[in-house]
This record gives sequence, C-alpha cells and structure tokens, in this order.
Amino acid sequence: MYFASDNSAPVHPKIMEGLARANNGYASGYGNDATTRQAQAMIRELFEAPEAAVYFVATGTAANALALASHIAPWQGIYCHPLAHIEEDECGAPEFYAGGAKLVLIDGKDGKMDPANLRHRIENTGNVGVHNIQRGAVSITNVTEAGTVYNLNEIQALTAIAREYKLPVHLDGARFANAMVALGCTPAEMTWKSGIDVVSFGGTKNGCMGVEAVIIFDPAKAWEFELRRKRGGHLCSKNRFLAAQMEAYLTDGLWVRLAKHANAMGSLLATGLEKIESVTFQHPQQANMLFCGWPRAGHELAQAAGSMYYPWPAEYPETGPADEFLTARLVTSWASTPQDVDKFLELIAHTG
Ligand SMILES: Cc1ncc(COP(=O)(O)O)c(C=O)c1O
Repeated sequence: MYFASDNSAPVHPKIMEGLARANNGYASGYGNDATTRQAQAMIRELFEAPEAAVYFVATGTAANALALASHIAPWQGIYCHPLAHIEEDECGAPEFYAGGAKLVLIDGKDGKMDPANLRHRIENTGNVGVHNIQRGAVSITNVTEAGTVYNLNEIQALTAIAREYKLPVHLDGARFANAMVALGCTPAEMTWKSGIDVVSFGGTKNGCMGVEAVIIFDPAKAWEFELRRKRGGHLCSKNRFLAAQMEAYLTDGLWVRLAKHANAMGSLLATGLEKIESVTFQHPQQANMLFCGWPRAGHELAQAAGSMYYPWPAEYPETGPADEFLTARLVTSWASTPQDVDKFLELIAHTG
C-alpha cells in the first residue's frame, strides 16, 4: 500500500535490462555514443519532430531549470501556477539557472492556470519600463500538481495567449505519459501541435531509474541549452546510461503501458474512495495522483497497517479528535497492484 509517490516505485525490469545492454564494452562519453543517438532518434520519431533537439538529464529539476533558462533572459518572468513544481519544489533552481528571472504566479482551479488571469498578468508585466521585470515564458505542468490533466483545448487556450505576446511555452512533463494516456492523444498533439516549444519529458516517475529528456522544437535554442547543461554540471560523461533508460522506456510502447496501468490504479482507488461516505475529493481524479481527505481515525488505521502516503499540504498534527478531517496525497505507479488498492480501500471503509 505504497502511495507516497510514483518515484518511490522500483525501476522496471526492462529498464534494468536496457542498462545492462548498454554496459557492454566501451562507448564515447558526453552523449557521443550510439545509444544516445538511438534514443534521440526514437524521441524525434515519436514526437513527429525530425528537427527537434533532444537531451537527457538525470532530474526533473535540471530539465525544467535548464529548459526555461534557455528560453528567457534574467530580467524576464516565467508565468506558472502557484502549485507548480518549479515554484514549490525546486529550491529556486529555475530562477538560479535563469540568472535571477522571476516566477509570476497565475492562479486557477485544480492546479491549472486560468487563461484570463494569464492574459491579465502578461498585460500588466513590463509596462513601467526599466522598473519592471519583462515578459518571459509560460510554463505549464501536465499532469498538474493537483493531479488533474489539461486537455488539448485548455493547453491551446494558454499557448494562444503566449503566442499573441510572442512568449515561448514550456511543458513540465514529469508525468507526461500519464497525461497523454489520460487524453488519448499523441505526443505531438500534446506538445508542438498545441503550441508547446520545449518539453521536460519525464521517465523517472514512470519506471525509469533517473532520466528526463528535454525536447526543444526550435533547434536554434540547442547550442545555448548545451552550454547551459555543461556549465550547470548536468552533462553526464556516461550519458549512454541515461539514454539506455530512455531507449528501453520507449521500446515496444513500454512507457504507454506503464502509464496506463498507473492511471488505471488511480481510477480504481478513486472509484473505491468515492463510495466511502466520509471521503471528500479536493480535485477530480484524472490520472495517477489523488488528493482527498477523510477522518483521522481512517488515517491512523491505514498507517498502522503499513500504508504510505503524504499528508497534504503539510504534516498532520500528532494528536487530534478521531473525526478530525485530514487530507492525503495518494500516488499510484506502474508497480501498484489492485490487491494493494483493495486492501487500502477496506481499511478506509472500515472507519467511515
Ligand atoms: C511536476 C513535477 N515536475 C518535476 C519533478 C521532478 O523533480 P526531481 O528534480 O525531483 O526529479 C517532479 C517530481 O516530483 C514533479 O512532480
């Protein structure tokens, strides 16, 4: 009953096999090897983007920070949701890598930026000459940090505004596969065909050991990204082992199968929880991450039985009345099982 995070799940055996295959003899370093070229080619084909520049880094924070830094100047703003990982969970890395750029928060329901709010903030940025930060880039996350999924119309509503002001759009796709299978669309439809310029394409949360691809659709930005990646300490000398994970991940649709399973487990969990009277959802369940609450007694029972998940948004107070309402973040993964979900549901149902 491990619902703490999808990056707590083990590495999928096919990824381990891919790593073992890549560990066969010598290969040039720094991405100048056959495995890297193969994984890059697979991504270009998958995204129907033969010109795209493709790079691999080991963390989502590096992917986001380097991708954004390559698309803005230090005196510009990055428009994102207040819950965005780049705002809440990256220790200021995007601002640091972008030389001090500023995040500009655009609120909206269920973890999604509201287009009217975005337009309003863009229009009110940079109007006082040298005294203001200037308009920079827009960054959206799909699956969002609220566990919801922007559909294609919602993505396009935001990118159309960005386009009007000639601003590039970044997609934090740490859970790209989960969003894509939830939408039933293609990688190209969810990105450049919907106005996205640069993508952090996650692998780690969906079965890889630690790899994210940065996909830049305008190759004119490629050299700057390469310089920033090296200067920022994120050019891995044994790059083939990042690429090998991505190659195995994309082979025979493994990445899609794993995300479908994770989402199906999310739906199973949500369907069961919805039937329990005391459970209240904070956001609709649309992929593999759920936010919902129930009385303390249920949390105590579930945790005593060994289930793992994070309180949301902060620590639970150590003591309190049994009927005190506490919210949880529950994340399913490629490794979640229906048995674990059922066992967990039984425990929560037991108390309410
Ligand atoms: C939305 C989102 N973006 C990016 C990341 C990647 O972060 P990390 O640097 O921990 O790999 C995460 C991981 O929690 C995430 O949830």
